[in-house]
Amino acid sequence: MGERRRRLLVANWKMHFVRAQALEYLKIFTERVRNITKTELVLAPPFTLLETVGRELQKTQMKLAAQNLFYERQGAFTGEISPVMLKDLGCQYVIVGHSERRRLFGETDEIINKKLRAALDAQITPILCVGETLEERRITKRVLEAQIRGALHTPSPPSPLPSEGEGSRGVRGLQEGGRGVRSGEGQGEVGVRGVRHSLDLAEDLVIAYEPVWAIGTGVNAAPPEAEASALFIREVLAQLCSIEIAQKIRILYGGSVTPANFEGFLQQPNIDGALVGGASLDPEAFAQLAQMAERLSEPS
Ligand code: PGA
Repeated sequence: MGERRRRLLVANWKMHFVRAQALEYLKIFTERVRNITKTELVLAPPFTLLETVGRELQKTQMKLAAQNLFYERQGAFTGEISPVMLKDLGCQYVIVGHSERRRLFGETDEIINKKLRAALDAQITPILCVGETLEERRITKRVLEAQIRGALHTPSPPSPLPSEGEGSRGVRGLQEGGRGVRSGEGQGEVGVRGVRHSLDLAEDLVIAYEPVWAIGTGVNAAPPEAEASALFIREVLAQLCSIEIAQKIRILYGGSVTPANFEGFLQQPNIDGALVGGASLDPEAFAQLAQMAERLSEPS
């Protein structure tokens, strides 16, 4: 089954901190995680802090992430930030489709798809967030599958042979031909080929399973429940690309992760780390999470 995926811990600071606070945080945090080599540590500060934090992180092994991006490279898009700009600041990751963006800022799967592809184009690794709301809890799998397929779908190039009644050919290719596809199969399907294309870089894709009802609520998913969703996500990825690639993609859990519950998640075979909001605002707590991940990592 190959080697274990490298553990990954991402701090999502959301809309918190100004420069002095960020520098203070980093002073404490970098000291506490000096010994960490096996676990990958990533900080996602707000846009305004990317340069300040990025400069500090360059002195460490840690990496920089943005919390969002716009999908155009440049142009008249007042207030937006492009992948090129993020790359210029040294961002290696970008969070895409966080539930707060879906819910508060109207991001649809279509927008998320554009953002994800723009990130991949700029060689920034997207951390794609998926997860069900409380009302959707009975149909979690259906929601996750739709979000993943929506985000990873590559629109087909215009077909020279439009057949009647096939308005959504690319999507249909995904829904039918994509199911059960294993490596080497289904190459002829328009939709599948599209997805395969975008997943050429799939080893550079991260998925964060974040049940919306667990985000910022203090109510985390039970680790076995999160594991079931992570396994399901991996199965969907295997259908969309190949088992080999699906095995390499890291899947994080997010939603009220704290030092008190993190170990339960780390013990799950399909969960490779966490996307942390609240607990990442405290450098001591976030360093504790990093140490836990490191302790449970296999020797490198
Ligand atoms: P939380 O946030 O850890 O505060 O629940 C997680 C997230 O929104 O990514």
